[in-house]
Amino acid sequence: MSTVQRGAFIVIEGLDRSGKSTQAALLQSRLQNANVSVKLMKFPDRTTPVGKMIDAYLRSQSDVDDRTIHLLFSANRWEAVSSIESTLAAGTTIICDRYAFSGVAFSAAKGLPLAWCRSPDVSLPAPDLTLFLDISPDIAKSRGGYGEERYEKEELQRRVRNIFHQLGDELPKDGAGRWAVIDAGRDLNTVSESLWHEVAITIHDCTKQDSVGKLWQ
Ligand code: TYD
Ligand code: MG
Repeated sequence: MSTVQRGAFIVIEGLDRSGKSTQAALLQSRLQNANVSVKLMKFPDRTTPVGKMIDAYLRSQSDVDDRTIHLLFSANRWEAVSSIESTLAAGTTIICDRYAFSGVAFSAAKGLPLAWCRSPDVSLPAPDLTLFLDISPDIAKSRGGYGEERYEKEELQRRVRNIFHQLGDELPKDGAGRWAVIDAGRDLNTVSESLWHEVAITIHDCTKQDSVGKLWQ
């Protein structure tokens, strides 16, 4: 029997250049300042053997069949599951930069069937809160560094955004497992305040539940 209150599993999703990584880091320091134990994670995790294959693919240094790369992205999440579960159980909140919604949105935007894309990620730990940083692809494009990697093309990002919205619409707007749309076209501090507001609600609610749910089941 554990007396430790579990951590919250918080995912940040969005298009490339929507500000996810910046906001994840800001959120981490705000939580630390509030004395909340927090760990930052990121998918793809390019440091593992699977992650190194993904990294080479994204930098166009290797070509991989669409279904194969999709399964590698999913495997890269599954290999982190025991760490996610033990971190949450120890009372540490996780801020996770991209997750299975990116997995489905990018592969389905390339033309793979949505149901097929979803199936390898079914029953992963379900986020307590997913923050979708919504930005129009033309604003994202005007931000620095865009276009360096394989998926950073406006037309594809447009399709990715639509699928993200479709996946989000299936999730509740309140309570456990909710999906919150954040307008990420605003200035950094305004976006940060919105995220903080949503996170505070979820961390409070998580104290009422003992274990993390399972995604899409
Ligand atoms: P990355 O560049 O690491 O994220 P960021 O844009 O925040 O720096 O993400 C790499 C790319 O991989 C990004 O275009 C989204 C894509 N991706 C997938 O196609 N499937 C997945 O499962 C994940 C996690 C990301
Ligand atoms: Mg990127």
